[in-house]
This record gives sequence, structure tokens and C-alpha cells, in this order.
Amino acid sequence: MNILVTGGAGFIGSNFIYYMLQKHPQYRIVCIDKLTYAGNLETLRKAMENENFRFFKGDITDRKAVYGLFEEEGFDAVVNFAAESHVDRSIEEPEVFLRTNILGTQVLLDAAKKYGNIRYHQVSTDEVYGDLPLDRPDLFFTEETPIHTSSPYSASKASADLLCMAYYRTYGVPVTISRCSNNYGPYHFPEKLIPLMIINALHKKELPVYGEGLNVRDWLYVEDHCKAIDLILHGGRPGEVYNVGGHNEKTNIEVVKKIISILGRDESLIKYVTDRPGHDMRYAIDPTKITNELGWYPETTFEEGIKKTVDWYLSNKHWWESIVNGEYMNYYERMYSGR
Ligand code: NAD
Ligand code: DAU
Repeated sequence: MNILVTGGAGFIGSNFIYYMLQKHPQYRIVCIDKLTYAGNLETLRKAMENENFRFFKGDITDRKAVYGLFEEEGFDAVVNFAAESHVDRSIEEPEVFLRTNILGTQVLLDAAKKYGNIRYHQVSTDEVYGDLPLDRPDLFFTEETPIHTSSPYSASKASADLLCMAYYRTYGVPVTISRCSNNYGPYHFPEKLIPLMIINALHKKELPVYGEGLNVRDWLYVEDHCKAIDLILHGGRPGEVYNVGGHNEKTNIEVVKKIISILGRDESLIKYVTDRPGHDMRYAIDPTKITNELGWYPETTFEEGIKKTVDWYLSNKHWWESIVNGEYMNYYERMYSGR
């Protein structure tokens, strides 16, 4: 197979590239990435040594560049990770989210349609379902849960999902969608909860917890997500949505305290700060469909995954230090000072 992976210089896309190069050594993987603030070529350094891998710097909204790549490469499949992915940034500045997440998806779908019979997989998110109340632990997101978005980010992802389903029904593009819960693991950009807390705790800096820290996320180790996408790409039914998640719900404060305890820091570092506007309360995935149809289940426990993740950040300081010492400092100031 010759697979186009978009957004592969980011967190999940890069993990997926490494997973696929190892699992299917005969496959060719081409990555297109714009290298926004969240993309990092250093992350793909080892992949570049593999002759079955090619990196192409480009924007998925650039129709000419995308079509050119499809013509040159003759892809069998596309896996679209490329997105603006951070909820807080979408609240600050929604426009780029609409451009990349919706219009970029449309360009890729058009290319899949134009160049014929190309399998298209859209990496979506559980955030398209909105949130669940804390006092109803019996409720979970299923694939039938109505779309009900809260942030400009989730609205843009939901729009992209709807476009994908429209291209399946109207043009017969063989589309699948996965809606996954919160990932964690290596190469996670430092502005997201888990890496931010690890890095701040290492520096003995304040740990900014939004609101009361009681919001719940369903954490999934990134490799388990990559396995799910590989299974869907090969065995998922076109036109179908698959929820991917771990039955691994934790409040934010539990996660932060776990990191503090692994790193031997003091809980006095925790600082409760002004909440995120429109902050979703609880996400929880019911993965029955993907388990029954494709035999997928989350293999890494949170206990195991969070230790592996902290170890990775301890052993790969060069990777995140170059990020947090750059433009990221301005972002951090803007987002957290006086909060
Ligand atoms: P990320 O922000 O770490 O990486 C996004 C990548 O996309 C970056 O490399 C960036 O340079 C690239 N990119 C952005 N705009 C682009 C454009 N216009 N053209 C080409 N490349 C562009 O994101 P992530 O956390 O790895 O998320 C990947 C995908 O998975 C996203 O679609 C996101 O919505 C989805 N998702 C993420 C999570 C999570 O927990 N992180 C969970 C569920 C779904
Ligand atoms: O559910 C899947 C989604 O998970 C993906 O679609 C998104 O791309 C991904 O970024 C993630 O979204 P969240 O908003 O859940 O992730 P984030 O790491 O930004 O925040 C996780 C929780 O932690 C959330 O409840 C907000 C809280 N938080 C976050 C930060 C950065 C804090 O309390 N303090 C912080 O400093």
C-alpha cells in the first residue's frame, strides 16, 4: 500500500507513521505537513532514514500541491490527521481551525474522489459529541450519540465529519471515521495537559488546573489509537464511524496528582486557575463497535502508559526543550499570566 498521512509531524500522526513503518515494512508512507507551531520535523528524523518514507512540506488547503502529490504518488489510502487541534487556541482564534479542519478536509476528499478508489480515513474526535454530565456515570458516547459541539475546534471537526459522510453518500468515496478520546504518549506537544504538567513539575513551576479540576477525560495511550486506525484502514466498513476509547476515565486533578507523585514533587505546585470557557465536563467512549467488528481493545493501562510517558519526557529533553524555549514561551505568557 502507498499511504498518504497528513499532519504526520504532529503528535498522533508521527506515532502512527512509526507504528506503520514497523508493522508493515513493505508499505510506502508519504507525509504531508505544513509544519505549523505544532509540527516538528525533528520528530520524524528517524523515519527519514527509512527508504519507504517521504516527507513533503505542504498545506492540505493548497489544492494544487495536494493534487500534484496525488498524481505523483498514486496513493491507495489517505489518513487525515492534519488539523489545528488545541481547544484553547480555537477559543482565541477560530478562523484557522475552520480553514484547515474543514476546507483542508474538503481538498483531501476531492483528491480522493478525483484520483479514484482511494480509501479515505478521517481522524476525528469524541469532542464532536459534546460532553456528558458528571452525575450520570452510566452514559457513554456511542456512534449514534448526536453531534453537539462546544468549541470552535469541535465544531470544525464535526463539520469535517459531516463532509466525509456526504462524500461517501453522494460520490461513493470509501470513507471511514474514527472518533477517539484523549491520547497521551511520546511527542505530545507541550501545551496539552499531560506534557504541560510533566514539564512544569520537572521545573518546579506552578501546575495550572482549570476550574476545580473535576472535568473527566477518557485517556488512551497513543499506540492503542494507532492500532485502531490500522485495523479500520484494513477492515473497517466504508461509510462507518468507529469510536475509539479506553474506559479509562480520570478527573484532571487525578491525572495531575499522579504526575506529581511519579516525579516526587509536592502538591503545593497545583494552582487552580480560571476555567476554560464552555469547558466540556466529561468525555467517555463506548468502544463496543470497534471491539466487536475489528477485535480492537486498549492494551495499555493508564498506570503503565503514564509511567512510560513520563520516562519518555525524562529521556527526550532535547525534543521538548527546543519547543518550550521558543515561541511557546509567548503562548504560555498569553494563556496563563494573571489567570
Ligand atoms: P497536533 O496538533 O499535535 O498535530 C497536528 C499536525 O498537523 C501538526 O504537525 C501540524 O503541523 C499539522 N498541520 C496543521 N495544519 C496543517 C495544514 N493546513 N496542512 C498540513 N498540515 C497541517 O495534533 P494531534 O494531537 O496529533 O491530533 C491529530 C489529529 O487527531 C487531529 O485531527 C485531532 O483533531 C485528532 N485527535 C486528537 C486527539 C488528542 O488527544 N490529541 C484525540 C482525538 C482526535
Ligand atoms: O477528546 C479528544 C481531544 O482531546 C482532542 O480532540 C483534542 O485535539 C485534544 O487536544 C484533547 O482536547 P482537551 O481539551 O481534552 O485536551 P487538553 O490537553 O487541552 O486538556 C485536557 C483537560 O485538562 C481539559 O479538561 C482542560 C484541562 N487543562 C488543560 C490545560 C492545558 C487544565 O486543567 N490545565 C491546562 O493547563
